[in-house]
Amino acid sequence: MSGHLTVVGLGPGPNDWVTPAAQAAIENAEDLLGYIPYLNRIPERAEQTKHASDNREELARAGDALALAASGRRVVVVSGGDPGVFAMATAVCEAIDTGPQDWRQIDIRVEPGVTAMLAAAARVGAPLGHDFAVISLSDILKPWEVIEKRLRLTSEADLAIALYNPASKTRKEQIQRAFTVLAETRGLNVPVVLAKAVGRKDEEITVTTLGQTDTDQIDMRTLVIVGSSTTRTIARNGLPPLVYTDRFVKES
Ligand SMILES: C[S@@+](CC[C@H](N)C(=O)[O-])C[C@H]1O[C@@H](n2cnc3c(N)ncnc32)[C@H](O)[C@@H]1O
Repeated sequence: MSGHLTVVGLGPGPNDWVTPAAQAAIENAEDLLGYIPYLNRIPERAEQTKHASDNREELARAGDALALAASGRRVVVVSGGDPGVFAMATAVCEAIDTGPQDWRQIDIRVEPGVTAMLAAAARVGAPLGHDFAVISLSDILKPWEVIEKRLRLTSEADLAIALYNPASKTRKEQIQRAFTVLAETRGLNVPVVLAKAVGRKDEEITVTTLGQTDTDQIDMRTLVIVGSSTTRTIARNGLPPLVYTDRFVKES
Protein backbone atom coordinates (compact mmCIF):
# COMPACT_ATOMS: atom_id res chain seq x y z
CA MET A 1 0.00 0.00 0.00
CA SER A 2 1.58 3.32 -1.07
CA GLY A 3 -0.33 5.81 1.13
CA HIS A 4 1.03 7.38 4.32
CA LEU A 5 -0.71 8.82 7.34
CA THR A 6 1.14 11.02 9.83
CA VAL A 7 -0.50 12.39 12.97
CA VAL A 8 1.09 15.63 14.15
CA GLY A 9 0.60 18.01 17.06
CA LEU A 10 0.89 21.78 16.65
CA GLY A 11 1.79 22.39 20.30
CA PRO A 12 -0.44 24.54 22.52
CA GLY A 13 0.12 27.88 20.84
CA PRO A 14 2.91 29.60 19.01
CA ASN A 15 4.46 28.31 15.80
CA ASP A 16 7.92 28.06 17.37
CA TRP A 17 6.53 25.25 19.55
CA VAL A 18 5.79 23.18 16.42
CA THR A 19 8.61 20.66 15.97
CA PRO A 20 10.59 20.72 12.70
CA ALA A 21 9.49 17.09 12.11
CA ALA A 22 5.80 18.02 12.42
CA GLN A 23 6.37 21.04 10.17
CA ALA A 24 8.08 18.87 7.51
CA ALA A 25 5.21 16.34 7.57
CA ILE A 26 2.69 19.18 7.12
CA GLU A 27 4.61 20.65 4.18
CA ASN A 28 4.88 17.22 2.53
CA ALA A 29 1.16 16.38 2.85
CA GLU A 30 -1.36 16.23 0.02
CA ASP A 31 -4.34 16.15 2.41
CA LEU A 32 -4.63 17.75 5.84
CA LEU A 33 -7.47 16.77 8.19
CA GLY A 34 -8.34 18.32 11.54
CA TYR A 35 -10.56 20.37 13.78
CA ILE A 36 -11.20 23.75 12.11
CA PRO A 37 -9.12 26.02 14.45
CA TYR A 38 -6.06 23.77 14.12
CA LEU A 39 -6.28 23.67 10.31
CA ASN A 40 -6.65 27.47 10.31
CA ARG A 41 -3.18 27.72 11.86
CA ILE A 42 -1.65 26.12 8.74
CA PRO A 43 -1.00 28.43 5.75
CA GLU A 44 -2.88 27.61 2.53
CA ARG A 45 -0.85 25.87 -0.19
CA ALA A 46 -2.28 25.45 -3.70
CA GLU A 47 -1.22 21.81 -3.97
CA GLN A 48 -2.82 20.76 -0.64
CA THR A 49 -6.44 20.01 0.31
CA LYS A 50 -7.71 20.81 3.79
CA HIS A 51 -10.59 18.74 5.18
CA ALA A 52 -11.96 20.54 8.25
CA SER A 53 -14.36 18.88 10.68
CA ASP A 54 -15.95 19.62 14.02
CA ASN A 55 -14.73 18.98 17.55
CA ARG A 56 -16.50 15.73 18.39
CA GLU A 57 -15.95 13.99 15.06
CA GLU A 58 -12.59 12.40 15.87
CA LEU A 59 -13.43 8.84 14.86
CA ALA A 60 -15.09 9.84 11.58
CA ARG A 61 -12.12 12.12 10.83
CA ALA A 62 -9.69 9.28 11.55
CA GLY A 63 -11.68 6.98 9.21
CA ASP A 64 -11.68 9.60 6.43
CA ALA A 65 -7.92 10.07 6.85
CA LEU A 66 -7.27 6.30 6.71
CA ALA A 67 -9.48 5.91 3.63
CA LEU A 68 -7.53 8.69 1.87
CA ALA A 69 -4.20 7.13 2.87
CA ALA A 70 -5.42 3.70 1.70
CA SER A 71 -6.11 5.25 -1.71
CA GLY A 72 -2.43 6.22 -1.98
CA ARG A 73 -2.47 9.84 -0.68
CA ARG A 74 0.03 11.45 1.70
CA VAL A 75 -2.20 12.42 4.60
CA VAL A 76 -1.60 14.43 7.76
CA VAL A 77 -4.04 14.55 10.68
CA VAL A 78 -3.54 17.61 12.85
CA SER A 79 -4.03 17.86 16.64
CA GLY A 80 -3.34 20.56 19.18
CA GLY A 81 -0.51 19.97 21.67
CA ASP A 82 0.80 16.42 21.40
CA PRO A 83 -1.23 14.14 19.10
CA GLY A 84 -1.09 11.23 21.58
CA VAL A 85 -2.38 13.13 24.65
CA PHE A 86 -6.21 13.16 24.62
CA ALA A 87 -6.00 13.64 20.86
CA MET A 88 -6.13 12.25 17.34
CA ALA A 89 -3.41 9.55 17.44
CA THR A 90 -5.67 7.50 19.70
CA ALA A 91 -8.69 7.95 17.41
CA VAL A 92 -6.57 6.79 14.45
CA CYS A 93 -5.50 3.65 16.38
CA GLU A 94 -9.13 2.97 17.39
CA ALA A 95 -10.26 3.32 13.76
CA ILE A 96 -7.54 0.90 12.59
CA ASP A 97 -8.41 -1.58 15.35
CA THR A 98 -12.07 -1.75 14.30
CA GLY A 99 -11.75 -0.89 10.59
CA PRO A 100 -11.02 -2.79 7.37
CA GLN A 101 -8.01 -5.15 7.42
CA ASP A 102 -6.16 -3.23 4.69
CA TRP A 103 -5.88 -0.14 6.98
CA ARG A 104 -3.40 -2.17 9.08
CA GLN A 105 -0.91 -2.05 6.18
CA ILE A 106 -0.86 1.78 5.92
CA ASP A 107 2.42 3.46 6.84
CA ILE A 108 1.40 5.24 10.08
CA ARG A 109 3.61 7.75 11.90
CA VAL A 110 2.97 9.85 14.98
CA GLU A 111 5.13 12.94 15.43
CA PRO A 112 5.38 14.02 19.08
CA GLY A 113 4.44 17.57 20.05
CA VAL A 114 4.59 19.89 23.05
CA THR A 115 1.64 19.00 25.24
CA ALA A 116 -0.21 21.70 27.24
CA MET A 117 0.93 20.46 30.67
CA LEU A 118 4.61 20.80 29.73
CA ALA A 119 4.10 24.32 28.40
CA ALA A 120 2.10 25.23 31.53
CA ALA A 121 4.71 23.73 33.87
CA ALA A 122 7.53 25.54 32.07
CA ARG A 123 5.81 28.90 32.61
CA VAL A 124 6.14 28.62 36.42
CA GLY A 125 9.29 26.54 36.95
CA ALA A 126 9.05 22.78 37.50
CA PRO A 127 5.83 21.66 39.22
CA LEU A 128 5.99 18.36 37.31
CA GLY A 129 9.67 17.87 38.16
CA HIS A 130 9.07 14.68 40.15
CA ASP A 131 6.44 11.90 39.91
CA PHE A 132 3.10 13.11 38.57
CA ALA A 133 -0.18 11.89 37.06
CA VAL A 134 -2.32 13.18 34.21
CA ILE A 135 -6.11 13.02 34.27
CA SER A 136 -8.77 14.40 31.94
CA LEU A 137 -11.83 15.69 33.81
CA SER A 138 -14.10 15.25 30.82
CA ASP A 139 -16.83 12.73 31.54
CA ILE A 140 -17.86 12.47 27.90
CA LEU A 141 -15.67 9.42 27.29
CA LYS A 142 -15.66 7.92 30.82
CA PRO A 143 -18.04 7.95 33.79
CA TRP A 144 -17.51 10.48 36.59
CA GLU A 145 -17.13 7.63 39.15
CA VAL A 146 -13.99 6.49 37.30
CA ILE A 147 -12.57 10.02 37.29
CA GLU A 148 -13.26 10.46 40.99
CA LYS A 149 -11.63 7.12 41.86
CA ARG A 150 -8.53 8.01 39.83
CA LEU A 151 -8.33 11.42 41.52
CA ARG A 152 -8.64 9.85 44.96
CA LEU A 153 -5.97 7.17 44.35
CA THR A 154 -3.60 9.67 42.72
CA SER A 155 -4.06 12.01 45.63
CA GLU A 156 -3.40 9.21 48.14
CA ALA A 157 -0.22 8.35 46.23
CA ASP A 158 0.83 11.99 46.72
CA LEU A 159 1.52 12.67 43.03
CA ALA A 160 1.36 16.13 41.49
CA ILE A 161 -1.54 16.11 39.02
CA ALA A 162 -2.06 17.76 35.64
CA LEU A 163 -5.77 18.15 34.85
CA TYR A 164 -6.81 18.41 31.20
CA ASN A 165 -10.34 19.37 30.09
CA PRO A 166 -11.13 20.83 33.52
CA ALA A 167 -14.30 22.67 32.42
CA SER A 168 -16.35 23.73 29.42
CA LYS A 169 -19.35 25.99 28.85
CA THR A 170 -21.66 23.18 29.97
CA ARG A 171 -19.31 21.40 32.42
CA LYS A 172 -18.55 23.69 35.34
CA GLU A 173 -19.11 21.37 38.31
CA GLN A 174 -16.39 18.79 37.66
CA ILE A 175 -13.49 20.97 38.70
CA GLN A 176 -15.21 21.87 41.99
CA ARG A 177 -15.89 18.20 42.69
CA ALA A 178 -12.30 17.31 41.76
CA PHE A 179 -10.92 19.93 44.16
CA THR A 180 -13.16 18.60 46.96
CA VAL A 181 -11.80 15.06 46.40
CA LEU A 182 -8.18 16.26 46.27
CA ALA A 183 -8.56 18.43 49.38
CA GLU A 184 -9.59 15.38 51.43
CA THR A 185 -6.08 13.93 51.32
CA ARG A 186 -4.02 16.90 50.22
CA GLY A 187 -5.38 19.72 52.39
CA LEU A 188 -6.10 23.24 51.17
CA ASN A 189 -2.57 24.67 51.10
CA VAL A 190 -0.96 22.73 48.24
CA PRO A 191 0.06 24.95 45.30
CA VAL A 192 -2.23 25.15 42.27
CA VAL A 193 -1.27 26.53 38.85
CA LEU A 194 -3.98 27.69 36.46
CA ALA A 195 -2.51 28.09 32.98
CA LYS A 196 -5.05 29.61 30.60
CA ALA A 197 -4.35 29.76 26.84
CA VAL A 198 -0.64 29.05 27.31
CA GLY A 199 1.45 30.40 24.46
CA ARG A 200 -1.40 32.49 23.03
CA LYS A 201 -1.95 36.25 23.09
CA ASP A 202 -4.44 36.04 25.97
CA GLU A 203 -2.32 33.72 28.14
CA GLU A 204 -3.00 34.02 31.89
CA ILE A 205 -0.99 32.19 34.53
CA THR A 206 -2.24 32.13 38.11
CA VAL A 207 -0.36 30.60 41.03
CA THR A 208 -2.62 29.95 44.01
CA THR A 209 -3.54 27.15 46.44
CA LEU A 210 -6.27 24.51 46.48
CA GLY A 211 -8.22 26.45 49.09
CA GLN A 212 -7.87 29.84 47.37
CA THR A 213 -8.63 28.86 43.75
CA ASP A 214 -11.48 30.70 42.08
CA THR A 215 -12.86 27.83 39.98
CA ASP A 216 -14.98 30.28 37.92
CA GLN A 217 -11.70 31.36 36.33
CA ILE A 218 -11.17 27.86 34.87
CA ASP A 219 -12.43 27.17 31.35
CA MET A 220 -11.82 24.72 28.50
CA ARG A 221 -8.57 26.50 27.55
CA THR A 222 -7.09 26.01 31.01
CA LEU A 223 -4.59 23.43 32.16
CA VAL A 224 -4.65 22.94 35.93
CA ILE A 225 -1.72 21.62 37.94
CA VAL A 226 -2.30 20.60 41.56
CA GLY A 227 0.87 20.09 43.56
CA SER A 228 1.79 17.19 45.85
CA SER A 229 2.92 17.54 49.47
CA THR A 230 6.46 18.30 48.20
CA THR A 231 5.45 21.02 45.72
CA ARG A 232 6.60 24.46 46.86
CA THR A 233 5.99 28.05 45.79
CA ILE A 234 8.92 30.48 45.91
CA ALA A 235 7.77 34.09 46.33
CA ARG A 236 9.99 36.66 44.56
CA ASN A 237 10.02 40.42 44.99
CA GLY A 238 8.50 42.10 41.95
CA LEU A 239 8.65 38.88 39.93
CA PRO A 240 6.14 36.07 39.44
CA PRO A 241 6.49 33.17 41.89
CA LEU A 242 8.24 29.94 40.96
CA VAL A 243 6.60 26.58 41.61
CA TYR A 244 8.54 23.32 41.79
CA THR A 245 8.18 19.78 43.07
CA ASP A 246 11.19 18.68 45.09
CA ARG A 247 13.43 16.03 43.51
CA PHE A 248 13.79 14.31 46.90
CA VAL A 249 11.12 12.29 48.71
CA LYS A 250 11.88 11.28 52.28
CA GLU A 251 11.19 7.73 53.50
CA SER A 252 7.78 7.59 55.18
C1 LIG B 1 -8.73 17.57 24.16
S1 LIG B 1 -7.40 18.13 25.17
C2 LIG B 1 -6.12 18.18 23.97
C3 LIG B 1 -4.74 18.15 24.58
C4 LIG B 1 -3.64 18.30 23.56
N1 LIG B 1 -3.56 17.16 22.68
C5 LIG B 1 -2.29 18.51 24.24
O1 LIG B 1 -1.41 17.64 24.15
O2 LIG B 1 -2.11 19.56 24.87
C6 LIG B 1 -7.82 19.83 25.40
C7 LIG B 1 -7.34 20.34 26.75
O3 LIG B 1 -5.95 20.59 26.69
C8 LIG B 1 -5.60 21.71 27.47
N2 LIG B 1 -4.99 22.73 26.59
C9 LIG B 1 -4.78 22.64 25.26
N3 LIG B 1 -4.16 23.75 24.80
C10 LIG B 1 -3.96 24.56 25.87
C11 LIG B 1 -3.36 25.84 26.04
N4 LIG B 1 -2.83 26.54 25.02
N5 LIG B 1 -3.34 26.37 27.30
C12 LIG B 1 -3.86 25.67 28.34
N6 LIG B 1 -4.43 24.46 28.24
C13 LIG B 1 -4.49 23.91 27.01
C14 LIG B 1 -6.90 22.22 28.12
O4 LIG B 1 -7.04 21.59 29.38
C15 LIG B 1 -7.94 21.69 27.14
O5 LIG B 1 -9.21 21.55 27.77
